[in-house]
Amino acid sequence: MKTIKILGIVGSLRKDSYNLALLKAAQNLLPPNTELEIFSPAKLPLFDQDGEMQPTPAVIDLKNKIRNADAILFSSPEYNYSIPGVLKNAIDLASRPYGDSAWAGKPAAIMGASIGNVATARMQYHLRQVMVFLDMHPLNRPEVMVAMAQNKTNENGELTDDETKTKISEMLVALVDWTKKLASLSA
Ligand code: FNR
Repeated sequence: MKTIKILGIVGSLRKDSYNLALLKAAQNLLPPNTELEIFSPAKLPLFDQDGEMQPTPAVIDLKNKIRNADAILFSSPEYNYSIPGVLKNAIDLASRPYGDSAWAGKPAAIMGASIGNVATARMQYHLRQVMVFLDMHPLNRPEVMVAMAQNKTNENGELTDDETKTKISEMLVALVDWTKKLASLSA
């Protein structure tokens, strides 16, 4: 059976990021025959349209990783009610030059952790809007929105909350099913 490759993209550069903790937890909750590689946007340049025809090695690497993945899993904070700049920058870089976007047709899921109560909902719906133009296929359910993340992780930056782990497991199963469904329809 073919292994499903998921590329997890974190929307925070913070060393002790709760959103990175979600992705690390997901690596231990994968369904059978599934891999999850984590990508941090830390090494990416700022997008500059003047340079888009000469992408740096970091941008080429990101586009290759997206193209080699069967599905994308975003895990991101909400910054000022929207998508953090580092994540939007990564999305823009890999979407260019026009006609050579790496994102088109990719199944995707979103997770988000916040120290507040609204739990990245506003960021997640902005990201869904962006995925319209990227021609991606976001999973609708389950939604993984983690409120009060500081109470659900330990001092080693590990997710400790069982309810959240269950939700992530359910989302991973749904993402793999969705990915297989889309692949079989296009085969
Ligand atoms: C935040 N934070 C935040 N939280 C939220 O729920 N809604 C928001 O709009 C914002 N806005 C925001 C802006 C900026 C610039 C920062 C630095 C932070 C708080 C955020 O939830 C918290 O910092 C998380 O810890 C960020 O996620 P990571 O870095 O732990 O993954």
